[in-house]
Amino acid sequence: MRAYYYDNLPGDQRLPHDYIPSRPVSVEALKAIDVSYWSVPVEGYQAKIDAIAKERGYKNRDTINCSKEGLKEAYEDKIRSFFEEHMHEDEEIRYILSGTGFFDVRETPSDAWIRIAIEPGDLLVLPSGIYHRFTLDESNKIQALRLFKEEPKWIPYNRSEETDANPYRAEYLKRVTVGA
Ligand SMILES: [Fe+2]
Repeated sequence: MRAYYYDNLPGDQRLPHDYIPSRPVSVEALKAIDVSYWSVPVEGYQAKIDAIAKERGYKNRDTINCSKEGLKEAYEDKIRSFFEEHMHEDEEIRYILSGTGFFDVRETPSDAWIRIAIEPGDLLVLPSGIYHRFTLDESNKIQALRLFKEEPKWIPYNRSEETDANPYRAEYLKRVTVGA
């Protein structure tokens, strides 16, 4: 995992969009906006992931394959829609099994985009209410484990005035601004 400020330059979303020189973001700075990260080597990952899942109450999981081959004609549309800025009313938990990609999360209160480059062995938890988006990178494929508690509530609420007023969004902002 490598996190850094997104350069906001126009161009293909799959490019790194890293400033020159890069403006890195630490794991602690991610923690301050309630984004959690663990590194769990893919070889023998099961036991460690099981332990974290048990501790945090993630009872269920499935695997998602995001690639041109997997999504076929829907690929371009999916890639565009994953990249719409949105939030969920539940955590988004991903463990990367193979491939690479980018999660972009909004920093509070700056509203800057932080880009998180993910690779196999990364376990990332985005809290409910955080604005974020996802894209593949130029390798065009990623395979990830999605972990969830009960029924997954992965409905994306695109950023809007209405979503700004969503109680999960308000709750998130309260959580990350206390003590800031
Ligand atoms: Fe999402």
